[in-house]
Amino acid sequence: MVATAMVGKKGDKGIVMEGPLANWYAKNTANNLSDFHADAGRIANCLTAGARVLEVAPGPGYLSIALAQLGPYQVTGLDISHSFVRIARTNATNAGVVVDFRHGDASDMPFAADTFDLIVCRAAFKNFADPIGALREMHRVLRAGGEALIIDMRRDATNAAIDESVTAMKLSRLDSLITSFIFRHTLRPRAYTTADFQRMAATTPFGGCQVSEDPLGLEIRLRK
Ligand SMILES: C[S@@+](CC[C@H](N)C(=O)[O-])C[C@H]1O[C@@H](n2cnc3c(N)ncnc32)[C@H](O)[C@@H]1O
Repeated sequence: MVATAMVGKKGDKGIVMEGPLANWYAKNTANNLSDFHADAGRIANCLTAGARVLEVAPGPGYLSIALAQLGPYQVTGLDISHSFVRIARTNATNAGVVVDFRHGDASDMPFAADTFDLIVCRAAFKNFADPIGALREMHRVLRAGGEALIIDMRRDATNAAIDESVTAMKLSRLDSLITSFIFRHTLRPRAYTTADFQRMAATTPFGGCQVSEDPLGLEIRLRK
């Protein structure tokens, strides 16, 4: 059952997070939601009431939910994992907020052109099987003047930066070891550098991007 649930499929570069793996991620991530609340606060500062926001690959939905708690925004989430769509819907109901969590692929979005004011994608872009397709879709579904914000790990993150981030997650000893291993050996090799993002963005209708760096990650801003 686990093996079947974890077989990769179109859209995700590696293992699709279904079943027990999705539950494990949702439970561990919930240990420390401070980064989600901080990101939601920064994003909300740029939004007006009624803004239409899309989170691409929200997983358990913590960022979308934190954002919906901050103001009257129309928040939508799109994830390729059926398990995460179910978990995120339950989390939204439990939090008492309305977020439209949908199933779908970042590189083939089920939305009309020019729909969203802002798109955010956190800790997920490196997993996309078709990253340039995902950027093209972000451009298509953004309204003119809208912005996409991608927050993700950087490929040149050091082991020390990874260890510091895992410590901040406040996990059990075993989960810390597993998470650190996954960061070093699965996620970092899939991640991109600033130069990679600049090259990818240049091949899309965005034409380019602005990148800011911290020791573990990158923030990429793309304007339509
Ligand atoms: C590590 S989780 C991050 C979840 C969430 N953004 C967070 O910060 O907790 C990566 C997410 O990317 C999703 N994903 C991977 N490939 C995808 C694709 N092609 N389209 C949509 N979602 C995708 C996975 O299902 C998973 O929810």
